[in-house]
Amino acid sequence: MIKHFLDIKDINIDELKTILSHASELKSERINKPKGSKDVNQLLKNFVVALIFEKPSTRTRFSFDVGVRQMGGETISVSQSEIHFGKNENIADTARVLSRYVDLVILRTFDQKVLFEFAEYSSVPVINGLTNQSHPCQVLADILTYEECRGSIEGKKVTWAGDGNNVCNSYLQAAVKFGFSFCFFGPEKYRPEPKLVTEMENSGGDIFLTTDPNVAFRQAHLVVTDTWLSMHEADNTDKIKTFQMFQVNSEKMNIAHRDTIVLHCLPAHRGYEITDAVIDGNSSKVFDAAENRLHVQKAIMNWVLNS
Ligand code: CP
Ligand code: NVA
Repeated sequence: MIKHFLDIKDINIDELKTILSHASELKSERINKPKGSKDVNQLLKNFVVALIFEKPSTRTRFSFDVGVRQMGGETISVSQSEIHFGKNENIADTARVLSRYVDLVILRTFDQKVLFEFAEYSSVPVINGLTNQSHPCQVLADILTYEECRGSIEGKKVTWAGDGNNVCNSYLQAAVKFGFSFCFFGPEKYRPEPKLVTEMENSGGDIFLTTDPNVAFRQAHLVVTDTWLSMHEADNTDKIKTFQMFQVNSEKMNIAHRDTIVLHCLPAHRGYEITDAVIDGNSSKVFDAAENRLHVQKAIMNWVLNS
């Protein structure tokens, strides 16, 4: 059976933990090595990987591309305008054809339905490189980062400050799998989809929604934020205004633990969802998480192709 990596909720916790522990091993093997040198075990040797990006990307695109090279594989990277993708050729036919050329597809697209349709017709594994509804690679990298610094995330309180967006949705799914409590601190209008919240609660998730910073930040072990306006959304000044009181700043961080960690998937809009003082402060592990995208995604690629 083909293994895809599409959504955290579809993957068994033991497998998620295996991916994380393999990511740590892969990371430790890279210490003091030039970024372009090959890993000792070239786990993707003779594999060719397609990177299809329908939206801009810095981290996801570079980290997958470099990861494949370190693992001994080859990449072909294209943007939306360079291939017939759902415009001149339907998604199913594109998936069928690309499966004849490559061993793995990394796809960043708009609607999650496109990702699912592509995976349905692909005869090679597909990895979700972000959709409007989810960003599972980011959340696994965040969990690796938290656990490197503070140990197991199980039983901890994770506070999401901001928009109920794609990254937030993947956190909700991860809360159930990894057993952490999840507090959403954002405007009522921009809460995550009630359907997903209910589904996660019914699966045992400890989920709390609040607009009170004291409730949100008190006893938080991990604070996470993200842009107030995602890539797939049009400019919306009214939406941005709604979020002003949900900014992650020093005042709110003072409510949290002294050893609370702050993460942001990046790109960050400094002075909006997060202040310079917080993102550049001691609590921030934002750039460690960005690095961990590389190691986690290498472990994910190995998981879909070799396990
Ligand atoms: N965090 C993240 O996925 O960044 P990019 O959009 O740069 O890939
Ligand atoms: N929510 C953001 C994440 C970027 C990595 C977006 O979709 O633009």
